[in-house]
Amino acid sequence: MYTLIDRLAREHRLDLPEYARLVRDYDKDLAAYAAEKAVALRKAIYGNEVFTRGLIEISSICKNNCLYCGIRCENRKAERYRLTPDEIYACADEGYLLGFRTFVLQGGEDPYFTDDVLADIVRQLKARHPDCAVTLSMGERSEESYAALRAAGADRYLLRHETADPYHYERLHPPEMSFSNRMHCLTVLRSLGYQVGCGFMVGSPYQTPEILAEDLSFIQTFRPEMCGIGPFIPHHDTPFARMPAGSLDLTLFLLSLIRLISPNVLLPATTALGTIHPEGRELGILAGANVVMPNLSPVSVRKKYALYDNKICTGDESAQCRSCLQRRMEGIGYTLSIDRGDVRRLS
Ligand code: 5AD
Ligand code: FES
Repeated sequence: MYTLIDRLAREHRLDLPEYARLVRDYDKDLAAYAAEKAVALRKAIYGNEVFTRGLIEISSICKNNCLYCGIRCENRKAERYRLTPDEIYACADEGYLLGFRTFVLQGGEDPYFTDDVLADIVRQLKARHPDCAVTLSMGERSEESYAALRAAGADRYLLRHETADPYHYERLHPPEMSFSNRMHCLTVLRSLGYQVGCGFMVGSPYQTPEILAEDLSFIQTFRPEMCGIGPFIPHHDTPFARMPAGSLDLTLFLLSLIRLISPNVLLPATTALGTIHPEGRELGILAGANVVMPNLSPVSVRKKYALYDNKICTGDESAQCRSCLQRRMEGIGYTLSIDRGDVRRLS
């Protein structure tokens, strides 16, 4: 197994059975070994910098019904909200003053955000903050929509693939959603010149080592600029309420493997990771991640963007969240970078 890690660190690829074996049979020592290699590779490219993205959760209204998600449309108990364009600009302006140079607009698939509405918001944000990157994380849209948003100035798009296995995809989603459209969206985004992020939950119901091997293999071929992974955490008002949460150790090990597959990838230590362990985000950085995403949403709506239970940071002002993360990163010997944090190409 150690030779597999060595080969992955050198050649950045393995085959499916090799990935499955790593995921199935790893132990703490192997994970520590992988983390050491992952951190070394990352340091060679990004030094001790951790990039920040200001996350603005613009809507908890969603037409989809993903079985794992607390804001699925069938959850009548979910509290719904939608930020107005002015509220979004105010969050970004505040974030700018706090040093953020990337804004991530994330939300459910809310029909209010038509192409015209969203493109206008993107244009406004780029006009107010020309030195900032705008990242969208607004789910599946049409090719024309992605093109219009790109033309309006959006730089990056996050759309987790959720699982690279079509049968597993069907078990996590209602029949009206499809694996092939998910993958099609990612291909379209790439072809339009976005920096693209994919990703998945660790420990989602019915996931197996073989499925995680497919996820890693997909990342190896697709070569996303960004990759968001975090543990699955059950939400009490979803069909998966009684399913166990994903494992901290496995999430950390996968972060290391993804860094070894793609040394320059922008890899967040996610809020979900910080939710299952008080030092989850620090541990994520020490396993190979290099991005943190403090929350810039108005405190009044934070609790309502509840994809899973017990989400952290829901009571903290943006400034508190930012300084908290800065303190946390400095505590483990890293600095919070305030540039746009674009992906660095390998020579
Ligand atoms: N636990 C962890 N992550 C979740 N997401 C949605 N629901 C949950 C959950 N219960 C993730 C999905 C989605 C992203 C925005 O949040 O992967 O793509
Ligand atoms: Fe949000 Fe610590 S990062 S309060």
